[in-house]
Amino acid sequence: MKKHICIGVSGGIAAYKACDLVSQLSKKDYEIKVLMTKHATEFVAPLTFETLSHNHCYCDLFNPNIEDPIEHVELAKWADCFVIVPASANVIAKVVHGIADDFLTTTFLACHTKKMICPAMNVHMYENEVTQQNLKKAKELGYIVLEPDTGLLACNDVGKGKLPSVDAIVKAIDHLFIEDNTLKGKNVLITAGPTQEAIDPVRFISNHSSGKQGYAIAKAAKDMGANVTIISGPTQCEEINGVSIVSVKSAVEMFEAVKEHLEHSNYIIMAAAVADYRPEQISEQKIKKNDESMVIHMIKNPDILAYAGQHKKENQVICGFAMETENLEENAYKKLVSKNCDMLIANNLFTKGAGFKTDTNVVTLFKNNERIHLPKMTKEELGVKILKTLKEIEEGRKTC
Ligand SMILES: Cc1cc2nc3c(=O)[nH]c(=O)nc-3n(C[C@H](O)[C@H](O)[C@H](O)COP(=O)(O)O)c2cc1C
Repeated sequence: MKKHICIGVSGGIAAYKACDLVSQLSKKDYEIKVLMTKHATEFVAPLTFETLSHNHCYCDLFNPNIEDPIEHVELAKWADCFVIVPASANVIAKVVHGIADDFLTTTFLACHTKKMICPAMNVHMYENEVTQQNLKKAKELGYIVLEPDTGLLACNDVGKGKLPSVDAIVKAIDHLFIEDNTLKGKNVLITAGPTQEAIDPVRFISNHSSGKQGYAIAKAAKDMGANVTIISGPTQCEEINGVSIVSVKSAVEMFEAVKEHLEHSNYIIMAAAVADYRPEQISEQKIKKNDESMVIHMIKNPDILAYAGQHKKENQVICGFAMETENLEENAYKKLVSKNCDMLIANNLFTKGAGFKTDTNVVTLFKNNERIHLPKMTKEELGVKILKTLKEIEEGRKTC
């Protein structure tokens, strides 16, 4: 059966590209109905969409000629997905705040299906803090936000805000209907971010970990159908819809949370940068400055990865992470074996494109006697690679 798609067109210069999109989608296995804002009709005539979609184009909520006065509710039920393309700054602001003052926004609010928005606007409108907050809210609400491209914009500014190519939008819509069940039924436990080891009520010892790699693996695992839990140190990473997050601060807290979740986990991925040591004493009051130098006595933190390795069950596979500044291979092998891991991901802090705050990573993957140098890729692509490799290891075990 054909999938039903509502395409919402708002008042941006890229509205003309929505015509090609509707034309291409209609030729595939989709039935398309187009909803336009009043301002969008200044850019493209509804007749164009009616011709391309072979369906009525909805513009007016209070149209006396329309057969069913609550057509917007019917349309919301009919849709298998709702895509706003282009999404103006104005329409994004409305749909993330529940404003429903025209046909498009009212139907969007009434609709409880997959939703995607494709922002397209001037770079300064896009980068405006308000728009960025609205896009963050859109993601929190579970809408898929298709990142705009960077390039020469219609207003002659150069920057981010360009509607992605029609091919890219078609691909993203196709993707909405592909259910990836690779990890269905699997419980994936991921540690992410740094730990903070308190010295006194206002100071702590930590590291530069951003948590981006752990969260990217979590996103990939969720998209592959897994039940995902992140045990997260303090990070700026956005929550991922459908992923449980347990927030912790210190290594000891992370250890306790891991112990609690370990037993029921199948894939255990330890991407957090856990402090090896913590101050032996935490001062109850802020430590006052004096003329003397100061020594903080540090004691060892629990080794969370080693604990998981020691307690590994038959139905569990474990992946550790190592960040090194020297002797990467030697140290990575040692860690793989001594911690009883199935796989170890190692990167060198000094490699360009690798490391803490980047969106990309360059790593070497170690398993058994194999060592695979991976090219630079996004942290999410690496997440997919890690999860697929863990699945291969798990399936290889079963056939042994
Ligand atoms: C020529 C022209 C081009 C515009 N292009 C865009 C655009 O690309 N993106 C955008 O967010 N707003 C753009 N605007 C501003 C919107 O049309 C305006 O904010 C309008 O209120 C949006 O209404 P709607 O969201 O109800 O469609 C443009 C305005 C004009 C006059």
